[in-house]
Amino acid sequence: MITFQSVSKYYEYHTVLRNITLTVPKGEMAFVTGPSGAGKSTFLKLMYLAETPDEGDISIDTLHLASLKPSQVPLLRRRIGVVFQDFKLINNLTVFDNVALALRIRKVAEREIRSHVSEALKKVNLRNLADSYPKSLSGGEQQRVSIARAIVADPLVLLADEPTGNLDPSTALDILKLFRDINIQGTTILIATHNRELLRGTDKRVLKLDGGGLSEERGI
Ligand SMILES: Nc1ncnc2c1ncn2[C@@H]1O[C@H](COP(=O)(O)OP(=O)(O)O)[C@@H](O)[C@H]1O
Ligand SMILES: [Mg+2]
Repeated sequence: MITFQSVSKYYEYHTVLRNITLTVPKGEMAFVTGPSGAGKSTFLKLMYLAETPDEGDISIDTLHLASLKPSQVPLLRRRIGVVFQDFKLINNLTVFDNVALALRIRKVAEREIRSHVSEALKKVNLRNLADSYPKSLSGGEQQRVSIARAIVADPLVLLADEPTGNLDPSTALDILKLFRDINIQGTTILIATHNRELLRGTDKRVLKLDGGGLSEERGI
């Protein structure tokens, strides 16, 4: 599903990711951890093309990113949903319209949009707040809206960058549970977090970035 083949990324003279090779099978949920500045965000950005590697190749599903034509970029973006620490919701749009936005940009028929958005809001348990505005919601609710937005077009891969960074510990665990529920339905999920509390007792694979290298951690 996701493979990194000898991927390196440098910023100026600083090596952020060094010769990373990795396979994430379809349907897996894994964590990417490491201290602040270890390269977790960069690692995710390479997959959604916010950054490009200096060496190596990344493939997602059937697409090799190094040889992706500009016309194929939207194809890749449709396979990936992204969730951020700061939610990135549009405050003057309702919950429904925030979740619908990507489909509207793609000119999906309004009837289809209604059914996809309702389905996504149901998955995150927010159907009753469809007409609310983001500012009236709690942090946990706002993050659930952003997760609904990320899954509304049924992506193969969900990437989350510090998705619990702005949430209290109990809400963070709720969000983690939600990712597990989404994963059980088949979506491959990678969650970057520096918060080791979140990883305690997990049965998921934990990939640790440190000094540019990636290693697998066990028994947290
Ligand atoms: N656009 C950029 N230009 C230069 N340096 C960057 C850029 N983005 C990130 N970095 C540096 O790369 C390193 C890894 O950053 P990042 O991927 O954000 O780490 P993390 O998410 O693990 O905190 C840091 O030292 C950061 O300062
Ligand atoms: Mg980061």
